[in-house]
Amino acid sequence: MIKIAPSILSADFANLERDIRKVSDGGADYLHVDVMDGNFVPNITIGVPVVKSIRAATDMVLDVHLMIDRPVRYVEAFCKAGADIVTVHVEADTEENTRKALELIRGCGKKAGVVVKPKTPAEAVLPFLDLCSMILVMTVEPGFGGQSFMADMMPKLRTIRGYIDEKNPDCELEVDGGIAPGTCKTVIENGANVLVAGSAVYGAADIPGRIRELRG
Ligand code: DX5
Ligand code: ZN
Repeated sequence: MIKIAPSILSADFANLERDIRKVSDGGADYLHVDVMDGNFVPNITIGVPVVKSIRAATDMVLDVHLMIDRPVRYVEAFCKAGADIVTVHVEADTEENTRKALELIRGCGKKAGVVVKPKTPAEAVLPFLDLCSMILVMTVEPGFGGQSFMADMMPKLRTIRGYIDEKNPDCELEVDGGIAPGTCKTVIENGANVLVAGSAVYGAADIPGRIRELRG
């Protein structure tokens, strides 16, 4: 089954609880939380205290996407704050430290995953696949909501689907960036099973209807 993970980056941060309820009542599967440090990406969003408050406000599965340098420093704090899934970028540290970050997340009893930016090749996930419950393929340059979908990521998505099917079939394959009614079918055809959507969900007049539509 295709899962939908609305991104709160497109929510009203002054009314976060209300906006989380809109997607949880709307039938969403995961809540996607974008953490940005102004360094790994040119934008700053939220950190550990906000994740902790979100945890207290909802029982949704919290899918925390860390767009921060050297995430190994912070993964345990995000797990303790209540994240259920924590993903780290392969570009954000050495292979050794990235494996360490994944091990720390798993040691907290949470699901770990890696993320690849658009210019990063599919093979970059291979050193980590054994430790991953999720691989996230960016379909925009990370940093901002509301950007255009990069259809040229589809061969990479399909290649990573092949790796997962062969080496770790329980691993989920998520896509993030520009997912909307016009692009959801192509990512599903190319092997994604979790679709992040920010502007397409929060910009919809009928949120439950939009979430259903995005399932393809
Ligand atoms: C971008 C974030 C995304 C973003 C997606 O760096 O990782 O999760 O919120 O926004 P949309 O769905 O509007 O492209
Ligand atoms: Zn994201």
